Amino acid sequence: MEEISKKRIFSGIQPTNTPHLGNYLGALRNWKNMQEDYDCIYSIVDLHSITVRQEPAKLRRQIAESYALLLAIGIDPERSVVFVQGHNPAHAQLSWILSCFTQFGELSRMTQFKDKSQKHPENINAGLFTYPVLMAADILLYQADVVPVGIDQKQHVELARNIAQRFNNLYGDTFTVPEPYIVKAVQKIMSLSDPTKKMSKSDENPNSVVSLLDDRDTVLRKFKRAVTDSGSEVKAEEGKDGIVNLMSIYSAVTNKTFDEIENEFKGKGYGDFKTAVGEAVADTLTPVQNEFNRIIADKTYLEGCMKDGAEKAYKLSRRTLQKVNKKLGFINL
Ligand code: TRP
Repeated sequence: MEEISKKRIFSGIQPTNTPHLGNYLGALRNWKNMQEDYDCIYSIVDLHSITVRQEPAKLRRQIAESYALLLAIGIDPERSVVFVQGHNPAHAQLSWILSCFTQFGELSRMTQFKDKSQKHPENINAGLFTYPVLMAADILLYQADVVPVGIDQKQHVELARNIAQRFNNLYGDTFTVPEPYIVKAVQKIMSLSDPTKKMSKSDENPNSVVSLLDDRDTVLRKFKRAVTDSGSEVKAEEGKDGIVNLMSIYSAVTNKTFDEIENEFKGKGYGDFKTAVGEAVADTLTPVQNEFNRIIADKTYLEGCMKDGAEKAYKLSRRTLQKVNKKLGFINL
């Protein structure tokens, strides 16, 4: 049977900090599942991470760990292209070209730029400003149809669409105009210590965040300490943000509905429920961690995958780059 060509997906993740439970349930688990229906390209975007100062040894370790984690959660490097952005020089190259088709005013309006430059007034570098152009290059290089991102990145994908359309209008069909695919987290996963705030990598309180690499004891401890209200019934009700968050997490890892969860814990207290959520999360993370430990210990395998991924990525992106060069009047050798 002839294979119907699948739509192509591109997405990227920064290698800063280990992904947490919210990243996994909201996005990464989806990346794995999308392999069924799409032709997927996933990148560890190391170039993006240096708009903020990074410590070299730590960054090097985190790039390797992020890569290994993608494989550990079930992204198959034979089936999908998994690579480190900086291993493919075409990203930086197309980024320069696209920056000449992006207006200063457009970049000034990016919410993330405005937020970040307010937060780090001491280091408002040009990379922070042109960050969305590099992201557009990531996407357009591979002619991606669909870009799964969190809602915070939607504006950047829209900019990529505008750049693609602008270029296509000037030079004829060159880039696929990508669609953002807003990953609706099963339910937004909130901080364990302040359930009105999103679970975030940069939270200063380590008890707020469950890292994908936290061991079982740590996971159990964090859930035991999770902040809840003074009531005692496990019920999704107004004002019970902590319990609702724990129910969302439990539901996401066990596939149980809220009704089923309320029934399961009828007559039991918060303590029992927190233990059950901790256990269920630890059970979900253990196989991922075992796989992660196996991969990270096998440097030859890991680097082999990176190299393979980089070659595949380069090959795909070279076609786009040559087309762009030709349209602009550059000489392809
Ligand atoms: N900016 C994205 C983030 O911080 C990461 C990213 C970089 C990305 N390039 C991308 C996401 C291309 C989707 C497509 O989450």
